[in-house]
Amino acid sequence: MTAISLRDVPFSRPEFDRAEADAVAAVLATGWVSQGPRVAEFEALFAERVGAAHAVATTSCTTALHLALILAGVGPGDEVVCPSYTFIATANAVLYAGGTPVFAEIDAQTWNIDPADALRRVSRRTKAIIPVHQVGLAADLDALKAIEEHGITIVEDAACAIGSTYRGRHIGAQGHTACWSFHPRKTISMGEGGMLTTDDAAAAERARRLRSFAATVSDHARHQAKGMVYEEYRELGYNYRMTDVQAAIGIQQLAKLDRLLARRRAIARRYDEAFAPIAGLQTPARPPYADHAYQSYGLRLLPGCGVDRDDLLGNLVNQGISCRRGIPPIHLEPFYRGRFGSVSLPVTERVAAESIFLPMFASLSEVDQQRVIDAVVEAATRR
Ligand SMILES: Cc1ncc(COP(=O)(O)O)c(C=O)c1O
Repeated sequence: MTAISLRDVPFSRPEFDRAEADAVAAVLATGWVSQGPRVAEFEALFAERVGAAHAVATTSCTTALHLALILAGVGPGDEVVCPSYTFIATANAVLYAGGTPVFAEIDAQTWNIDPADALRRVSRRTKAIIPVHQVGLAADLDALKAIEEHGITIVEDAACAIGSTYRGRHIGAQGHTACWSFHPRKTISMGEGGMLTTDDAAAAERARRLRSFAATVSDHARHQAKGMVYEEYRELGYNYRMTDVQAAIGIQQLAKLDRLLARRRAIARRYDEAFAPIAGLQTPARPPYADHAYQSYGLRLLPGCGVDRDDLLGNLVNQGISCRRGIPPIHLEPFYRGRFGSVSLPVTERVAAESIFLPMFASLSEVDQQRVIDAVVEAATRR
C-alpha cells in the first residue's frame, strides 16, 4: 500500500510573483543597484502609505531602531523601557546605542507593553520607551502619554505593524519615530530591509546621513552633481543603506498590501471562529482602539485546554504543520541574564510558555488552513 504523503503546511511565506521579478530586472538593467532612485521612490510611497512626513530606508528594522535611538539621544548611562516579550532585536538596538534596556511587563490579553508597569519602571535615567506593536496589534499609545509627559521619547517598534491601525489611523501617523521590518516573515518583504518614519524633517535628514557613513553628501547627489561636490564626515556613521534592488521589490509589495492584509484578516477570522468557542483557547485580542494586521496569529492555551503548549507544538509538527512557540522573553536569554542578572516578569513568562503561533500568510489555502484548524481542535478538545 502506498502511504499518502500530505504536503507540509509552511508557517509563513513571502508573496512574490512576476511583478517583483520584472522590477528587479529593470533595476539591474540601469546599473544603479545601491541606494538610489528606487529607494527614494519607495521611501515616498511608504511615508504616504503610513501617514508619516518622512521615511528613511535602512537594511533592517534593527538598524532603523539603532538610528532612532541615536536620534532620541540615547547613550551610555541612559535607560530605555521596552517589553521583554519581543524579538531580541528590540533590546539589542538599545545596547548598540550604548543604553540599558529596562524590561516592562505585558498585558496578558494584548501581549503588548503594560503602560502602568512601564510607568513604574521609569527613572531619572530613562531616555526613551519602545512600545512594540506585537505581531501587528497596536500597543495602547494613548496610555503611554503619561510617560511622554516626563520628557521621554517614544520610539515605536513597528516591525510587524504594516497595515495596523490605532484609533482609526495607521501606525506611523501618531507623530513618533517608528521602525519597520521587511524580513520574509513580515506582511511585505524584500528579503531583508527596514524603514524609519518620522514627522521631524531634521531627524529624517540626520538619519539619512547616519545610514550612509554620516557623509554630508549622498552618492546619488554626488553622481547628479557630476562629482563636483565633496562630502565630509562629521560624526560616526554606519552602512545601513538599502539597495535599489530591494526597493524595487518593496514598491511592488506596497502595491499588493491591501490585498495581502485582506487575506490575512480573513484567515484570522476563520481561525477565530474555529477556536473562540473552545474552552481553554485564548484567541488574539481585539481591543476597540486597534485594527489587527495579523503579521502572526497567536493562540494561548489556558488551564482547561485539552493539551499543553509543547504537546500541541509536537502534535502539529508531526502532522507536517509548521508552527512556532510563543516569543521567547529576552530577559531569559543567557546573554541578557549574564549581563543584567535575573529579572522576574511573571505575566511575560506565563504568556510565553502558554502561547503558540500558527501558519499565517496571504496565500495559505483554505484546505491547508482547515488542516491546521482540525489538528488544533482535535488536540484542544481531547479529554
Ligand atoms: C518586534 C520586532 N522588532 C524588531 C525586529 C527586527 O527586524 P529585522 O529583522 O528587520 O531587523 C523584528 C523581527 O522579527 C521584530 O519582530
